[in-house]
Amino acid sequence: MDHFQLKNGVLHAEDVPLSAIAEAVGTPVYVYSRATLVRHARVFREGLSALDRPHLAFAVKANPNLAVLSVLQKEGYGADVVSGGELTRALAAGMAPADVVFSGVGKTHAELVQGLESGIGQFNIESEEEGYELAAIARRLGKTAACALRVNPDVDARTHEKISTGKRENKFGVPLDRAGAIYAALAAEDGLDMRGVAVHIGSQLGDLEPLESAFTKLGALIGELRAAGLTVTHADLGGGLGVPYKPGDIMPSPADYGAMVARVTKGWDVRLTFEPGRVIAGNAGILLTRVIRSKRSGNGPPFVIVDAAMNDLARPAMYGAWHDIEAVAPSGNRMTSHVVGPICETGDTFATDREIDALAAGDLAVFRTAGAYGATMASSYNSRGFVPEVLVDGDRFAVVADRIPADAIMDAERVPDWL
Ligand code: LLP
Repeated sequence: MDHFQLKNGVLHAEDVPLSAIAEAVGTPVYVYSRATLVRHARVFREGLSALDRPHLAFAVKANPNLAVLSVLQKEGYGADVVSGGELTRALAAGMAPADVVFSGVGKTHAELVQGLESGIGQFNIESEEEGYELAAIARRLGKTAACALRVNPDVDARTHEKISTGKRENKFGVPLDRAGAIYAALAAEDGLDMRGVAVHIGSQLGDLEPLESAFTKLGALIGELRAAGLTVTHADLGGGLGVPYKPGDIMPSPADYGAMVARVTKGWDVRLTFEPGRVIAGNAGILLTRVIRSKRSGNGPPFVIVDAAMNDLARPAMYGAWHDIEAVAPSGNRMTSHVVGPICETGDTFATDREIDALAAGDLAVFRTAGAYGATMASSYNSRGFVPEVLVDGDRFAVVADRIPADAIMDAERVPDWL
């Protein structure tokens, strides 16, 4: 359930008509609903109510906006970060360092130092090499790094190949058959406190079975590690739960997911961490856009050209992803059209031959389910600026990220005087 609904014929974010936001802030603009973020955060937590003190770490990559992180911090969420920049944001949003997990296959030396100096709760180590480097830094700084070893369970997540992370051939984690030896080697290093294991097999998972299979393998590994005399007190089950993008999409609910987790992890005797991203933020945001003009196309459906483009919302161009398109003030008429942005490549297409609300030049429309992996994946391609972000709370709203115009980006560039 989200709080983007029609009221008196106009699409609202909570109690604010989207037309009011377009008028005040301009388009394109990302709009987030605080009530929806809170609702999703609570539904996810309730799904895990059978577990003892689960640690919830929002995957910052899904939506790193400071105001969004702050909403989730107030809901008791920590953060899963994958860069120094994300770590800085999580701390700036008030998340306790102890509630931060640092994932990622390519943490730099500087990022490992930053994590240690910030006192983060856990590093998810993705290779033996990273473990040794972290141990050396920790010894030099006189600190101990709490760590989980991320394993690659070689499970097919049955999602888009670009967001699948748990197959043997993917770059993530250490192979399951080497995990015991690597864990033992790293546990012997001064400077590391090897306390657990981690797994994340992919994103937008519509099926619990691959997750169950990965978690089952992780449980067996915990048993093996303990049998070898190693200590395991924590397990991180990653993120990945899918969300509906289209009407009729059926996704496992957080309650179904929680029931599966409770069943599979029974008897593990560890503290569990979860790293949900999309399931919290995806349907808590939309991208609001205005139609520039419609263009006839031979005998085919017209092109509806909107002012948002693939640089603002990359998912359709990058993954062939579907985002529902709706008029802000639907007339009741429908049309079949191609919906495209102004960028000079054919990949800048949001919908092909899609039946949508009738839209004409000047009309406002939204792309739904844009709260996760939306604004954060933007670029300035075609010298377009960065789109602003707005957070709605009841009948009020605030700009929580300014529009960065193209000329501000150009201001950071220099022509050397020897040219
Ligand atoms: N934990 C780790 C280690 C991850 O790599 C990810 C996502 C998550 C948690 C959060 O997964 P979620 O709950 O959001 O599925 N840009 C792509 C998605 C990439 C996901 C990468 N990792 C998209 O737009 O679909």
